[in-house]
Amino acid sequence: MDSKSTTYITAAVVTIAAGLAVYAVYFDYKRRNDVEFRKKLKKEKKRVQKAVAESKQSELADSTSEITPASLREVLKQVREEPGPQSPEEKEQYFMNQVSIGEQLAAQGPKFYLPAATAFFRALRVYPAPVELIVIYEKTIIPPVFKLIMELSQLDVSNPTSPHFDTTSLDGQDTSPIRGPPSEASSQEWDKVTDPAGGISLGGERKDGRGIAVKYRIEAYFDNFPPKGKNVSVVIREVTPGQGNRHILVADKDFAAGEVIYKEFPVVTALDPDLQEKETHCDQCLRPIQAGMSIQASPESSPLKLSYCSKACMLASKSQHHSLLFTLDPALPPEIPSAPATPELQEARREAQAKLAEHITKERRLVPLLVARFIARQVAFETQKLAQATAPGTTFAAPEADYTDSDNKSEKYVLADHIERLRYLETVPNKDEFKLLRDVLAAALPGLEEFISDDKYATLCGKMAYNAFGVCFGGGRDDRPVPDARPENIEKTRTPYGTQRQIGSALYTVSSYLTHSCQPSARPSFSSGTSEISIIANKDIKKGDVLTVAFVDVAQHPDETVIECRRRRRFELARGWRFSCNCERCVEEAATMTAAEKSSAPEDQKDESKVESSVDKYTMAPKDDVE
Ligand SMILES: *[C@@H]1O[C@H](CO)[C@@H](O)[C@H](O)[C@H]1NC(C)=O
Ligand SMILES: *[C@@H]1O[C@H](CO)[C@@H](O)[C@H](O)[C@H]1NC(C)=O
Ligand SMILES: [Zn+2]
Ligand SMILES: [Zn+2]
Repeated sequence: MDSKSTTYITAAVVTIAAGLAVYAVYFDYKRRNDVEFRKKLKKEKKRVQKAVAESKQSELADSTSEITPASLREVLKQVREEPGPQSPEEKEQYFMNQVSIGEQLAAQGPKFYLPAATAFFRALRVYPAPVELIVIYEKTIIPPVFKLIMELSQLDVSNPTSPHFDTTSLDGQDTSPIRGPPSEASSQEWDKVTDPAGGISLGGERKDGRGIAVKYRIEAYFDNFPPKGKNVSVVIREVTPGQGNRHILVADKDFAAGEVIYKEFPVVTALDPDLQEKETHCDQCLRPIQAGMSIQASPESSPLKLSYCSKACMLASKSQHHSLLFTLDPALPPEIPSAPATPELQEARREAQAKLAEHITKERRLVPLLVARFIARQVAFETQKLAQATAPGTTFAAPEADYTDSDNKSEKYVLADHIERLRYLETVPNKDEFKLLRDVLAAALPGLEEFISDDKYATLCGKMAYNAFGVCFGGGRDDRPVPDARPENIEKTRTPYGTQRQIGSALYTVSSYLTHSCQPSARPSFSSGTSEISIIANKDIKKGDVLTVAFVDVAQHPDETVIECRRRRRFELARGWRFSCNCERCVEEAATMTAAEKSSAPEDQKDESKVESSVDKYTMAPKDDVE
């Protein structure tokens, strides 16, 4: 399979995980608690069984059951003429029924592939996020049925309710761009098109076997990201000769030294553990708490004691992640009917949360908290979307402080789309730690834990570790406790002041594409007084120039020689991000090193070679999606 398409398809899978889980959980609640729903399911099952029996009888008479283009068109015509469900409730019910029918039919053998595909296709037509659903289908439905669904979708072109599939005749104009993963069969025939901006689009043409020439184009993610108006683009370049292509950030226009290039809100943040109980900083926006602010505390029952600068921040934290992770509040919005939790279940939930909180506090690492919050945030987003579908008219106005770009419901991509594409450090899954989180998720929404494996967890940890920035105000602080972990286990965040001076960690989508240089063209600043990051030009920048920041403290300290400074920062980079810096400054400084300097300190010499060997060891890491 074309590797680009593979990337594309897997890219959307995490996204779905949360959404699908919620559906599954909801379905399960309904089945257990809603008599009507159960009856309906039973009736559907009977209907399917009857249809199956009937058609088995006629099987002999009808031995040529080949699926022809005509039969597909016939099916399509029929489906289009059916009165579809109208209200969101009806749509949801219809969706559930059709998926359930499709599953049962598909299990009956090839004879039932077309009816099965028809049912899945019906579900697809009413699903609010058809592209996401196709990805779920692609992973969960047997290939012949999936292929039929895709063919039906592709035939269904003139239907305005299927905007995600756009097929035009070969000589026709490619109309509005679409975003939809191809079926496995067709993806092999997709051409790679490199667009002028350096982004890669997937697109191509193929004959569909029935003489209908179909043209596709998948809108490349990087056509839409970073959002317009951020003044930057992601392009693919070989930054270091011989090290392969990767995604990097370039300026979209000229900037003078000192100018703000763009600002960005984080996707997820975590305050340093030593500050969590101190009421010095807001746990949500990381703002220093000052006299006069209406300090809010997390609920008494919460095992992590957190403070917020305002009610808005408290509510944002609650709705994004805190409620799911560290409270006994129902995990589903009230619009979604669910069984009341029994005291036993509540106790189990409390216990799981206490254990996770204890681990986070004891370990003094922020990555596990960032990952837990990231997952919780996805779940919260999906449940709210579902509640909206269930109870139309309900609006989930984001609380004032809930301001990340990713929460914009009209955004094309969800959080996971962004995160899925980020580079990460390969790490060994920490199974014990994963279990703590898994237990918390399972206790909140039974079934949810099925959607995250320890490998996936390790990848998410690797993404946070590689991409998180250290939030430092005014040059950072001096009183951060020195971690007692082994040096290679100490967390590192991107900050030119050094992680040891930060007050917390934060993950950003656009800024994750900033690359390191020891002579950076830009710098992060938190001049808004919160975790909102501003990227500021260090020098005059021309349109198309690569934007770099320093991941570590690259300034030469008074007690350091040029060579010592070089060694220190390269060592930190190798430890934190596993690469050997080949920036201009590093190369120039190496040229000035005398033979004596190179061999003067055997211990350091060893260090330097350790840097190189640790880099060698990870030539494949950090992982990127560009080959
Ligand atoms: C983009 O740059 C302009 C100045 O050239 C600035 O006014 C604008 O705020 C920038 N956009 C963002 C998102 O920061
Ligand atoms: C959400 O995104 C759309 C399209 O990108 C934009 O027009 C709209 O202003 C955004 N809304 C908010 C609240 O940011
Ligand atoms: Zn705040
Ligand atoms: Zn360097």
